[in-house]
Amino acid sequence: MNIDNIRFQFPILDQQVHGHPLVYLDNAATTQKPLAVIEALDNYYRYSNANIHRGTYHLAAAATEQYEKVRRQVCQFIHARKPEEIVFTRGTTEAINLVASSFAKQFFTGDDEVICTGMEHHSNIVPWQLAGAHIRPIPFTDEGVLDLEAYESLFTERTRLVTVCHVSNTLGTVNPIASIVATAHAHGVPVLVDGAQAVAHTSVDVQALGCDFYCFSGHKMYGPMGVGVMYGREELLEQMPPYQGGGEMIENVTFDNTTYNVLPYKFEAGTPSVGDVVALGQAIDFIQSVGVHCIAEHEESLLHYATTRMQQISSLRIFGTAPSKAAVISFLVGETHPYDVGTLLDQLGIAVRTGHHCTQPVMDRYAIPGTVRASFAAYNSTADVDAFIAALERVIPMLS
Ligand code: ALA
Repeated sequence: MNIDNIRFQFPILDQQVHGHPLVYLDNAATTQKPLAVIEALDNYYRYSNANIHRGTYHLAAAATEQYEKVRRQVCQFIHARKPEEIVFTRGTTEAINLVASSFAKQFFTGDDEVICTGMEHHSNIVPWQLAGAHIRPIPFTDEGVLDLEAYESLFTERTRLVTVCHVSNTLGTVNPIASIVATAHAHGVPVLVDGAQAVAHTSVDVQALGCDFYCFSGHKMYGPMGVGVMYGREELLEQMPPYQGGGEMIENVTFDNTTYNVLPYKFEAGTPSVGDVVALGQAIDFIQSVGVHCIAEHEESLLHYATTRMQQISSLRIFGTAPSKAAVISFLVGETHPYDVGTLLDQLGIAVRTGHHCTQPVMDRYAIPGTVRASFAAYNSTADVDAFIAALERVIPMLS
């Protein structure tokens, strides 16, 4: 991988922050966007904007074709069976809320249980609570590895769904999805995967994973904010009621009765974020042009290098050391508050996230208020890691 060529495509990286070159290490929160994505948005609004699926005129037909082309592209990208299984949403959060709301209406019977992991993002906990489920979390070890024996023991006759993150946004753990799915299916229970932290970092094949739903966001995979995907197995989606009502999702409306559109439109009420979907197509092109396997290999070497360097700092503790881990490093320095570390790092141009990372149960598990988190993407380099470590070495004495 030629990192200089990749960085060149990300104009935002070429700037100074507080007099220092920006080192962007908050990729688990959002990735930066390559020129192709920025230009796709600009071109869409400059030359192609029209509402889709509605107009008979040229511009509307062209916008519709661009939008539907990306649906087919996403289908191939995650190896879904057919484009009808791809529903565009505003992001992972909306995708999970859609499934939780609709799935619960169809399949919950009262006193329902949902199994998740103890390392879920709040967006894969709260929608299930709102849907009325009792949550049964799978515990994990100090290293951040799921206890799969405990998982087996959580199933009851009231278990309706298993919902798990593919990659933990806080610990970086890559969870064994195929095996989790096999266990759930042996109990006759479907599985949703929150893939927000996975799609830009590993190749995803929903059929090989065997999952029933797979949700992710465009903005964490070099695409725009405001667009995401809910993949669902056709057989389940056919049985589930619409999430929102409005234009596009209907077949026929009268004041007495309404019938619904076919998949995937049944789940896409109202005008979608067409320009963002079009730009998402460019983000997928970017990932595929670099090669998702090359990105994974590169990030793994950054993870290894950064971890080794950080382990040499005696006051530093890393949270999440699973053998199968994405390039996300959560840490604390001595007894200092994560915000103080993050604020001082920012003064030296290093952008990291601090806090509970929307995973308060993970913080409770370790009895800590939060962590500092560095997370890597395709455009990060070993020079970024060196700058980060040098900054840490300057900051730590200031805090003691
Ligand atoms: N879910 C995003 C993160 O982990 C915002 O930072």
